[in-house]
Amino acid sequence: MADNLICGIDIGSSKIATVVGIDTSETNELKIIGFNTNIARGVRKGLVVDIKEATEAVEASVEKAERMAGHKINKAFIAVGGPHISSLNSHGIVAVSNPQGEINEEDVARVVEAAKAISLSSTRRIIEVIPRDYIVDGQPGIKNPIGMSGVRLEVETHIITASTTNLKNQERILSDLGIENEGFVFSGMASSEAVLTDTEKELGIVLVDIGAGKIDLSIYVDGALSYSSSIPIGARHISNDIAVGLRVSLDSAEKIKVFLSKNLVGKKKNPQINLSELDLPENLTDVSLKTLVDGIVAPRLEEIFKLIFDEIEKSGFGQQIPSGLVITGGGALTIGMLETGKRVVGLPIRIGYPEKISGLVDEILDPQYSTTVGLLLYGKNNISVDPDGFKNFGKILKDFKIGNSVSSLKNFFKQFIP
Ligand SMILES: Nc1ncnc2c1ncn2[C@@H]1O[C@H](COP(=O)(O)OP(=O)(O)OP(=O)(O)O)[C@@H](O)[C@H]1O
Ligand SMILES: [Mg+2]
Repeated sequence: MADNLICGIDIGSSKIATVVGIDTSETNELKIIGFNTNIARGVRKGLVVDIKEATEAVEASVEKAERMAGHKINKAFIAVGGPHISSLNSHGIVAVSNPQGEINEEDVARVVEAAKAISLSSTRRIIEVIPRDYIVDGQPGIKNPIGMSGVRLEVETHIITASTTNLKNQERILSDLGIENEGFVFSGMASSEAVLTDTEKELGIVLVDIGAGKIDLSIYVDGALSYSSSIPIGARHISNDIAVGLRVSLDSAEKIKVFLSKNLVGKKKNPQINLSELDLPENLTDVSLKTLVDGIVAPRLEEIFKLIFDEIEKSGFGQQIPSGLVITGGGALTIGMLETGKRVVGLPIRIGYPEKISGLVDEILDPQYSTTVGLLLYGKNNISVDPDGFKNFGKILKDFKIGNSVSSLKNFFKQFIP
């Protein structure tokens, strides 16, 4: 049973979330058996800024999740995001090893390896290589070239890189806790696994994860991840604005913000909001809704959506995303999110809740845990070889039946791993 255990740790700017799942082979269902969320410390905008504090916070969360699951966490997938993430699309080309025969797994592995040969400074590390499209003898649009005949095999890949220093810091936290790193997963991509449908990915869509300190973006075109990036602004900025605007502490501002979204979304709105049930130390009881929502929250949301819009323009995929935007992450629940988004971006928008999972914890079905749930789904679909190697070769072989070929492929990949 322990063989099917999948664990994920999301070291966010506001919370550390640890999740333990079991992939039941009979029903092919992923069940959560352990979960914990804890206030984050030592992390800012996705970067570890204090290793000691961050390690203590992760340890506390891991221990509680372990206790709930009744299993020790020996290895885990780790979410990474923030402005240190960048991406590029790279092309690989090889001659098919046996031009008289069929394209085999080794040809596919070789061509992906060729696409990975990009010049990269020592401060950057590749964390993901995703084949978007294969081209056989000049014919594009091939999802699975194995078994086809041809002499020239090409691949279009999407490559995500991250700051080596930050990855090392995260690895240090894990090694201090005796947890093996099964792979770094870009948090925007993890969230996509949990909230996007296959149809949305096929049509073209942007996943926007609004966390406390940063916004991670993943753009899917023709079913494949084609652009990844991150914006250094998050939902905490909205709390800051409320704190300044109402002259209250950040803590109070945070409470007011969450109260607004929980109590006012979709309801008839009175011009005054009664905050007395929050029992704030500032003794603030009545606030004008117009001041708060139109005067403070909406302008910040507008700024956020303008930045998202700019990022979409920058990606070059702006004309290929008819499905629009799916907003997730804790910040997605902010009051006025959909209205402002529709107005600024002019595309369809919905809020993304994590799905495709069952188990004992309903708490996890909240946008702030999309990345966390996504780590499990990612883990389920990917076979781990080595953190620096082809952890995602489940994706390379996306549409084929992975059977006996796995072990031979594994051995093949191993020769590339130093
Ligand atoms: N119901 C809600 N209404 C409004 N805002 C909310 C709500 N729930 C959470 N948030 C906000 O979402 C943010 C936390 O989101 P999330 O948990 O996704 O961040 P994180 O993963 O810790 O951070 P990051 O991804 O930036 O590293 C906080 O700013 C919080 O105020
Ligand atoms: Mg997050």
